[in-house]
Parts: sequence; structure tokens; C-alpha cells
Amino acid sequence: MSRPLRIAPSLLASDFARLGEELARAEAAGADWHHVDVMDGHFVPNLTIGPPVVKSIKEAARIPLDVHLMIEDPAKWAQQYADAGADVLSFHYEAAEADFEETLVTFKQTGCQIGVAVNPPCGVEPLRPYLDQIDLVLVMSVHAGFGGQSFMPEVLDKVRLIRSWGYDGDIEMDGGITAETALACADAGTNAFVAGTFLFRAPDMTTATADLRSAIEGATIA
Ligand code: DX5
Ligand code: ZN
Repeated sequence: MSRPLRIAPSLLASDFARLGEELARAEAAGADWHHVDVMDGHFVPNLTIGPPVVKSIKEAARIPLDVHLMIEDPAKWAQQYADAGADVLSFHYEAAEADFEETLVTFKQTGCQIGVAVNPPCGVEPLRPYLDQIDLVLVMSVHAGFGGQSFMPEVLDKVRLIRSWGYDGDIEMDGGITAETALACADAGTNAFVAGTFLFRAPDMTTATADLRSAIEGATIA
């Protein structure tokens, strides 16, 4: 694998009443990033957390925060999430289609590593002219909004396509990731893996994280 392997447990599947302990549990299990799902009840039909909670997570975390914004009008909020402590900050292309260039500039100005996310129906061709400014492409393998959905293998073609263009940044897959589905993602060229249910709801998170890592390391192409 040319890019570093990143395992990012999604806090959406954690126990929000014990967030500090859950952060420590993910870190002890071998997580590389904390994946933080921000939903606004408009861009997706679910509502999760906002900047004050991200700030508290940052204070407790010992590894980088990978913040996934599933919100309308992302440029309006970019700086607040950067100030709250995002290290990687991703917004959805579909939420910024009308003013993508300006949105990307706004996000770049935050100083975070910048990601652009695409839901399953959204192609990646519109991102191609901007890939040199994008640190991470977040390919959704479920429709954004909820944890615990089934992986959609048809999105793997997007990963292959982006790599065929010579993109050397991070490609992250999010939704329905297990040791089985992650292997196919890694084979296609994915190097960052979000997993909520598979890790946080496993009988033993450390074993599940190790299983995920060894499955990915067994991939042939990435
Ligand atoms: C879905 C979120 C995901 C979700 C993944 O909109 O972006 O990060 O938490 O959950 P699992 O791994 O359970 O599919
Ligand atoms: Zn996510």
C-alpha cells in the first residue's frame, strides 16, 4: 500500500453517554483516527453532534479527529469545526455543488486536511480537476445518515477510477465496513477505513481492529 493505512472507528456506534471512555477504548484497540459524524437533520435525515461536542472530543482524544460533515451549507461551518479541533475535515460534494470551488477554498483556508465526500449515486468525475487540492476522497459505501447499513460494492469502481487518474491522496471508505468488505476496498485502492458497528459493537474491539488491519494488509493491489 503506497499510502498509510488508517483505521477510523466511527463514534456514531459508540455509547454517547460514555464518550471519553469510548475514545480511550478505540485508541487502546489500535485506532488511527476517530471518525466523527456530524449530521444536521437537513442534508441527511438524522441529527448528531455539533462543534461543542467535537471540541470536547478533541480535548479527550490522543489521535487525530477525522470529521465527516453531512450538513448543508458546509462553507458556513468549516471554520467552527476546524477551531473545534478537526484534523481531517470532509464535506459532501452534493452539499456544495453550486459553489464547489469557493467552498474548497474556504475549507483549505482552515488549515485542516481537506476531504470531499460523495454519496453512492454521485460520480467522482467532477472532483477530477481539483484532486491536487483534495487531501482525502471519502467514498460513501452506504447512503449517508445512519450506521449499521449494508456495504454497496458498486462504489468500488469509483476508487479504481480515482486511482487510475494517478491520485495519490487518501481514499477513505465509509459504511458497512467489516474485515470482509474492507479487503475488497483495499484491493481497489482504499487506504482509510471507517467502521462503526464492526468495531464498537464487536465482542472485543481490539480483536476486531486487528482482524480489520490484517484483512487490509492482505490486499493485493493497494
Ligand atoms: C453514515 C456514517 C458512517 C457510519 C458508519 O452516514 O457516515 O460513518 O457511522 O457506520 P457502520 O460502520 O456501522 O456502517
Ligand atoms: Zn462517516
